[in-house]
Amino acid sequence: MTEGYEIRPAREQDEPKISALVKTKPEKLLQEIPAWQDFFVAVTKDGKVIGCAALQVSDKKEGAELRSVVVAEGHNCGVMVGSRLVRACIQKGKDMGLGQIKARTDEPRYFRRFGFLEVETTTKDKVGKTLMICKFQ
Ligand SMILES: CC(C)(COP(=O)(O)OP(=O)(O)OC[C@H]1O[C@@H](n2cnc3c(N)ncnc32)[C@H](O)[C@@H]1OP(=O)(O)O)[C@@H](O)C(=O)NCCC(=O)NCCS
Repeated sequence: MTEGYEIRPAREQDEPKISALVKTKPEKLLQEIPAWQDFFVAVTKDGKVIGCAALQVSDKKEGAELRSVVVAEGHNCGVMVGSRLVRACIQKGKDMGLGQIKARTDEPRYFRRFGFLEVETTTKDKVGKTLMICKFQ
């Protein structure tokens, strides 16, 4: 059970912890990690980074992508760490005036909870990645 954590924008000193967390899920996440400035982190009172998620915004406004959503083992048991991180990224996208956010995932059921809809599924190395889009208007 995870109690007493906060969601906040990442700081530069979080970068090694974010990187370590993303690298725990090589089968799930692209190992090219977004810049630390793109991340929100979930941090316990004693400073442990137990989750992260990034909103990567490209030059093209419609190219914004939700990336590197991961919650540490032991904290990923439906206590909303992942949900709060995803919602923070969506809110940031709205505040930036974006029209939509993309996500590529093999967990489409999870992302549907936040308003993402499936666009297409590609199979690479036997792992199905679904492209999903969350439109704001
Ligand atoms: C997927 C992941 C981010 C979920 O984080 P989490 O903090 O455990 O999930 P939450 O607490 O936000 O879960 C909220 C709800 O979604 C459900 N849920 C959790 N993982 C789910 C999944 N993979 N598929 C569907 N539903 C899921 C929970 O059961 C919970 O349901 P409830 O509200 O009915 O109790 C986490 O399990 C993880 O890090 N997985 C490995 C990396 C990964 O797959 N990232 C996403 C793909 S890019």
